[in-house]
Amino acid sequence: MSPDIETTAHTDIPPTAPGRLPLIGHAVPLIRNRLKFVERLRTYGPVVRISVGPKKVTVVNSHELIHEMLTSKSNSFSKGLLGEKLKLFGQSALPVAEGSPHLRRRRLLQPAFHREQVSRYVNTMRETVEPSITAWREGEPLDLKTEMGLMAQNVAMSVLCSFRAEQERARAILDAVDTVFTAAIWRTMVPVTSLERLPTRSNRHLKAARSLLRSEVADIIAQRRADPDTHNDLVTLLLQTRDETGAPLPDNEILSEIIGLLAAGSETTGVMLAWLFHELGHAPELEHRLHSEVDSVLKQGPITAEHIPQLTFTRQLVSETLRLHHAGWLVTRQATEPVRLGQISLPAGEQVLWSPYALHRDPALYPDPLRFDPDRWLPERPQPPRGAFIPFGSGKRMCIGDAFAWTEATLITALIASRWRLRPIPGTTTKPIGLLTVHPSNPHMTTETRQQTTTRTPQ
Ligand code: HEM
Repeated sequence: MSPDIETTAHTDIPPTAPGRLPLIGHAVPLIRNRLKFVERLRTYGPVVRISVGPKKVTVVNSHELIHEMLTSKSNSFSKGLLGEKLKLFGQSALPVAEGSPHLRRRRLLQPAFHREQVSRYVNTMRETVEPSITAWREGEPLDLKTEMGLMAQNVAMSVLCSFRAEQERARAILDAVDTVFTAAIWRTMVPVTSLERLPTRSNRHLKAARSLLRSEVADIIAQRRADPDTHNDLVTLLLQTRDETGAPLPDNEILSEIIGLLAAGSETTGVMLAWLFHELGHAPELEHRLHSEVDSVLKQGPITAEHIPQLTFTRQLVSETLRLHHAGWLVTRQATEPVRLGQISLPAGEQVLWSPYALHRDPALYPDPLRFDPDRWLPERPQPPRGAFIPFGSGKRMCIGDAFAWTEATLITALIASRWRLRPIPGTTTKPIGLLTVHPSNPHMTTETRQQTTTRTPQ
């Protein structure tokens, strides 16, 4: 244990991480160097306390205790500070709902995200992203964070809402989601509610972003109401839902739900794909293996649902990206009653956080953790212990879109790899930046037409 850690006489109260300053607590490392900071916290023990301004926050580092908190003890926790701030997207949406309203909503939406149902989305996913990928020009510089974010958002919109936004509109929605997410993260790190009400530039920007999202999604709903029998998708499901009294869902709830799903499904998947191609750009041998797999599996023509499970190396690449470059550096909970986690007692009201980013880089769980090594996911290799690889969380709040994201990421990776190599821009370096998500500091790459490794039927 580190010498300057602040321990307490009680073994069931976690020690406090070093570096705390009066009044502001650990705000400086959290704001300046938050990725290194959350990674370093594991060196102080399985559970450690930090101060975020005036608030004490317990950080759970041990994979076993994170698992316990998310599964067997999940009824003693709400979503916590970040969950509160994410209500900026809407009060009642699945990611922020609590208790029985959460359970009811989860049951309602779950069928749309079942594995078999997701495999029915593959054609729509392909039709949505293929035009963007084929429209790239040789040598074109791409901002991968935006490009992949747009693809993921377009997929979520077309699959869940049967809606295709033209380029400029899609871009405005993506920017608005980014603005709202960024505000939520800042408000979690600097939880001073009086600042949230000031008429600052960023608060005005946030207000504009929220109203843009609401008016865009309200348009989609209004169109569907005007023409109700055109599609059988999530919008239809929400519009047709009746509660026990026979009343429909209030418009506000339908809006929040759709905005919540678009937001949850775009940034995470987009950033993950940007990292995947960033890694491939520096690993020609892995890139060659991906190309060989894609050429041999897709040789019969367009990618279909049957191809997805055959793309095993592509899946390993996705797994390794979700491990090394997990988009989430901060997930929060709050104890709703006194609860024990291992040896530690948490009082009701305690704010808790854990970091998928830090967990997936723990050298005690992953040999050579900073190396991008997709072969660590080969079935014959020893797999990480239960609870050590949880890119989609665990328990009752686990990501509802996990099968959706696996399928979408595999499909987009294979489609891009079947046509293009994405090359790093010479002389540039890339490091992780943790704001809303952990994204590459330099997301730019250029396109290069690739040679087929085997003969393929043109699509
Ligand atoms: C690589 C992509 C993705 C990653 C890494 C990811 C990660 C996560 C994680 C870690 C959680 C749990 C948060 C917590 O425990 O507080 C979560 C929840 C959620 N995700 Fe995802 N997600 C991804 C893609 C998607 C997609 C594509 C959708 C939908 C289209 C989606 C919708 C949701 C929703 C609605 C929740 C809240 C579930 C609940 O509270 O019941 N996600 N996601």
